[in-house]
Amino acid sequence: MIYYFSGTGNSEWVAGELARLTGDEAHAIAPLADKAGGIAIAAPARVGIVFPVYAWGAPAIVERFCRSITIADGAYAYVVCTCGDEAGRAVKRLQKMVPYQSAWSIAMPNNYIVGFEVDDPALERRKIAAARGRLATIADAILADARCYDVQEGVAAWLKTALARPAFNAFARRTRPFFATDDCNRCGLCARVCPIRAIELENGRPRWVKRHCTQCLGCINRCPTRAIQYGAGTKKRGRYFFGKSD
Ligand SMILES: Cc1cc2nc3c(=O)[nH]c(=O)nc-3n(C[C@H](O)[C@H](O)[C@H](O)COP(=O)(O)O)c2cc1C
Repeated sequence: MIYYFSGTGNSEWVAGELARLTGDEAHAIAPLADKAGGIAIAAPARVGIVFPVYAWGAPAIVERFCRSITIADGAYAYVVCTCGDEAGRAVKRLQKMVPYQSAWSIAMPNNYIVGFEVDDPALERRKIAAARGRLATIADAILADARCYDVQEGVAAWLKTALARPAFNAFARRTRPFFATDDCNRCGLCARVCPIRAIELENGRPRWVKRHCTQCLGCINRCPTRAIQYGAGTKKRGRYFFGKSD
C-alpha cells in the first residue's frame, strides 16, 4: 500500500506511478490521518509514504499519520518525498515515526508561490521528464526490497530542518492572508480540493474557516481564474499544478 499527501498533484502523480510500476495501490493520507487507532501494516507487506517537502520538513499532517501507523517486523517500508530542490532532513526526521528501509527524493516543479516564483515552463518539463526516469529506477529498487537512502538534502540540511521547519509550522501556516478577488467565478473548486476542509463556500465564494492550514497551496495554485491570493506577494506570480500545461 502507498499512502500519499499532495497539494498540487506532484506527490499524487508520483504515488500513482509507483503504484502502477510496482503493482500496488495508492491512497490519500488526508482522510486517514486522524483515524482512531491508526493503521497497522502486517508483514510481509510493503508500505510506501509519499509527500511534498515543506520548509525542509514533512507536512505536519504526514508526520501525524506516520506516528499513527504500526509496521510489523519484516514488512518493507519506504519513503519518497517530492521537492522543488532539496529536502533537508525531512526524511531522516521520519525514521523515528516510521522505521523505513529506503528513501528517495524526486525534484519536481516548485509550487511555493507564497515565497517564490514558479519554475519556468522549460524547467518544469525537464524536472518531470527526469522524474519519470527516476521513478522507474525507484520502482525496481522497491520490487527488489532494496536498502538505500538517496535523498537530495542540500547544504546545511540539519540546520534548515531544525530551524526553518518549526518556524514555518508556528508562523507561516495562517489562513488569514488568503482572500478571493472579484475574479472568483464561484466554481467551488478551492473548497473541493482542500485536503483538510479549511475552506467553506459562502454564496459560492471561499471563506477560510480554520486559523491554520497545511499550506499545501492547492487552492491558490488551482484556482481557474487566479482569484485567490495570499497577502500581497502572489498577484504577480505564476501558478502551478501537475498537468497544468498538458
Ligand atoms: C509550504 C511549502 C513549503 C515548501 N518548502 C520546500 C522546501 O523546503 N524545499 C523544496 O525543495 N521545496 C519546497 N516546496 C516545494 C514542494 O515541496 C514541491 O513543489 C512539491 O513537489 C509539491 O508537491 P505536491 O504537488 O504534491 O503538493 C515547498 C512547497 C510548499 C507549498
